[in-house]
Amino acid sequence: MKIAVIAGDGIGKDVTAEALKVLKAVGEKFGRRFDLEQLPWGADHFLKTGESLPPNGYDLLRQCDAIFLGALGDPRIPDFGYARDILLGTRFELDLYVNWRPISLLDERLCPLKGCTPADVNFVVFRENTEGVYVNIGGRFKAGTDDEVAIQEEINTYKGVHRIVRHAFEYAKANGLTKVCMADKSNAMTQGHALWQRVFKELAPLYPSVTATHYYIDALAMYMVLDPGQFEVIVTNNLFGDIITDLAATFQGGLGMAASGNLHPGKTSMFEPVHGSAPRFAGKNIANPIGAIGSMALLLETLGAKQEAAAIDAAVLRAVKENQVTSDIGGTLGTREAGDFIAAAVLTMRSDE
Ligand code: IPM
Ligand code: MG
Repeated sequence: MKIAVIAGDGIGKDVTAEALKVLKAVGEKFGRRFDLEQLPWGADHFLKTGESLPPNGYDLLRQCDAIFLGALGDPRIPDFGYARDILLGTRFELDLYVNWRPISLLDERLCPLKGCTPADVNFVVFRENTEGVYVNIGGRFKAGTDDEVAIQEEINTYKGVHRIVRHAFEYAKANGLTKVCMADKSNAMTQGHALWQRVFKELAPLYPSVTATHYYIDALAMYMVLDPGQFEVIVTNNLFGDIITDLAATFQGGLGMAASGNLHPGKTSMFEPVHGSAPRFAGKNIANPIGAIGSMALLLETLGAKQEAAAIDAAVLRAVKENQVTSDIGGTLGTREAGDFIAAAVLTMRSDE
């Protein structure tokens, strides 16, 4: 397997080192070779060279089986332009239309919701990843004056909505799940989100084993907090998905725990922890590596290495159960030590543990 690695900025570098450490352990345990293509893209590279990524950058990524990304963002470059080129650019250029964000609580003590157990927090969010307000279509008129007009368009296409909603149903079907909830704001956004309604109603009957439900996004946010146990699969647009997955991450212990995949099923996909580059914590050996390590598990699972992915998940669960974790989730370990524990657990755990 050839994996492109963009450690990126800030704590992205710290957590990527741990994800690679765990990957190495997986390689040893299962006798697999991983060919890593380390790419220096990020703030330092941009400041040095003036380029976000080289002209053939996206092609370089396409030639790999998968991409691992740490995090991007640096206070020296406040407009975030180079990072948008790398992160959103890759999502768009490689047409990674599924943003896959599984939410699962590994231990009750990590959940800020009263009385919630791992049985209550176990769902997956599919966020549309190539359209919506992220397409950067719009403009400003009379910028900088009191008459400024700012327009930011939201794009919804039949093809785009159809493929993400279908993915949600297909995922449910393939994984024996029985509930798919679509969230939009069709009561206010009566044009764009009417399309979501239409597509959802078209697709739902094709999946008789799945109960299709709908919430407006504001109600969804409320019910996620009040009763997360009712959800199995949630599908929504790019912006709403961005917002609710930060909320959902808190249910599992915070952003440090949250893993994600940006997929184009069957093609080169990109995996990244949901947290950002957290410049204040960079290089201090305090960032939680679990989001990154979990993202590596999603990468392996997507490439068909299911046992390998399961071994990582089991090792992470052990680390959490034994509190061999970083301080954001109540442990005393540093980033590196938390990674060491998980890598060692991958190597030593039996497959039935
Ligand atoms: C995410 C992030 C990005 C997004 C930012 C960094 C542009 O918040 O992946 O959730 O909004 O998609
Ligand atoms: Mg986000």
